[in-house]
Amino acid sequence: MSLIIPTRTADTTTPILEVLAERWSPRAFDPTLPIDESALTAALEAARWSPSAANSQPWRFIVALRGTEEFRRIESTLVGFNSAWAGSAGALVVAVAEVADENGKTRRWAEYDLGQAMAHFSVQAHADGLHVHQMGGFEADALRSSFGLTENLVPVSVSAVGTVGHPDLLPEQTREREVAPRSRKGLDELLISAS
Ligand SMILES: Cc1cc2nc3c(=O)[nH]c(=O)nc-3n(C[C@H](O)[C@H](O)[C@H](O)COP(=O)(O)O)c2cc1C
Repeated sequence: MSLIIPTRTADTTTPILEVLAERWSPRAFDPTLPIDESALTAALEAARWSPSAANSQPWRFIVALRGTEEFRRIESTLVGFNSAWAGSAGALVVAVAEVADENGKTRRWAEYDLGQAMAHFSVQAHADGLHVHQMGGFEADALRSSFGLTENLVPVSVSAVGTVGHPDLLPEQTREREVAPRSRKGLDELLISAS
């Protein structure tokens, strides 16, 4: 096993912040290292300070460190290949949207705000040496009942967080994907109108 762990820096048309260019979502996490808890707290703090509609702050989190009963409960809700790799992460973080306010009024932007909070989370984590891999592939109802979440609390994603591991930790097919260049649509494809 070679000791070189790849960086997968984005090939951008113009320079962007280094932390944004270098953030990526690994599947290989080092199963021997515990999470850096101060970096994890900083990532949650970055999420806390993200903007939201009317400052409603509809983000809630379930944070579970590897080795805990809660970690195992979250891991057991992962589906497909996610369940094969995410258990090596130092922590699993469930991002939950509080979709209605205290009067029962729907918060129209709750999931948008939660996504933005997770973007802040992942960038802060990356700046502090952690990697984050967000997942939509989990059984939301199972997770909901496992943690007693009310109707108002919608689990939207589970993130594996930890220290990136060597791609050789993964099965061959996934290993190739782990080191392949990252790709994106061209900027011109994204602009509906730009005048
Ligand atoms: C909402 C969301 C759901 C995702 N679900 C999964 C998932 O279930 N399994 C997985 O392996 N990756 C998942 N991903 C990771 C994406 O595939 C990944 O971010 C994308 O391919 C871009 O790669 P990069 O983050 O390395 O730039 C998800 C990402 C997001 C934001």
